[in-house]
Amino acid sequence: MTTGEKKERTARVVVLGTGGTIAGRARGAGDNVGYTAGEVSVSDLIEGLEVPGVALCAEQVANIDSKDMDARVWHALAARCVHWLAQDEVAGVVVTHGTDTLEETAFFLHEVLAASKPVVLTCAMRPASALVPDGPQNLRDAIALAAMPGVQGVTVVCAGTVHGAPDVQKVHPYRVDAFSSGDMGPVGYIEEGRLRQARSWPTTPAGQARESMRKAALAVSWPRVEIVTSHAGAGAALVDLLVREREGGAVEAVQGLVVAATGNGSVHATLEQALLRAEAAGISVVRATRCAFGQIVPGARHALRDAGALSPVKARIALMLSLMQG
Ligand code: SIN
Repeated sequence: MTTGEKKERTARVVVLGTGGTIAGRARGAGDNVGYTAGEVSVSDLIEGLEVPGVALCAEQVANIDSKDMDARVWHALAARCVHWLAQDEVAGVVVTHGTDTLEETAFFLHEVLAASKPVVLTCAMRPASALVPDGPQNLRDAIALAAMPGVQGVTVVCAGTVHGAPDVQKVHPYRVDAFSSGDMGPVGYIEEGRLRQARSWPTTPAGQARESMRKAALAVSWPRVEIVTSHAGAGAALVDLLVREREGGAVEAVQGLVVAATGNGSVHATLEQALLRAEAAGISVVRATRCAFGQIVPGARHALRDAGALSPVKARIALMLSLMQG
């Protein structure tokens, strides 16, 4: 904790660790790719990190490679966010996370938390052991944002840019500036601990978030929703197999399908017929565009509903939450 001479306000920020490259370690300092994610504890990540006017505390929720993210960790993470955000003395929460499924966790939290305080996810593209790691600066920026009065909602901070949870997407497998907010553009930028805001904070209506959180908290197991891709030569076999599995009474049979559709939501004719059969068999089907930018523009008539601006992975989360019985 640092206190200024003028007795400046001290904001408390809680850092929740989930793993990722930011907590990764390689054998040599020159190795930025051959490392193990989720090796360093979140307490070690904040050790010696001083952000003026901020008191820090850390909690380890998980320590995994985010490719292995699952509903159990999401459940625990959302519960800890709810707990800490309810404390009057807590200004905001930071979540350290791997970059690979960061946009999914951010969107999930956005859907279940009506966060009137900041929840800021951050990450790194280089392991903590790197010669020039990017994690410490990202973490510093995220903490500075989480401590600022007036900041709201779920955001992602990486390489000095603040992205809103609904728009953020990983777009590069190596560069330190690996994320984009697509057509919407970033919410803002963090420069030397100060925010330059470009647009309003992402928010979720309180009633909707409460209902999603209630269902997610009560669900014994989350509905199985799979993603299939429409591409040149796409066939019906995979979808037909899932339908047969369901009709045969399989445990945890599929309840929803997201089709990663081409362009403005079009689907290969053979796959589309299979998806219509799946819908007739009681499976919820949603189309989401494969394109990295833009959204499905309404107009063209289609038998299957679309997910608008949501990417396939985010459409899957939205569909899972809508299918939960609570
Ligand atoms: C992960 O997502 O946990 C590994 C990759 C990364 O954080 O960049």
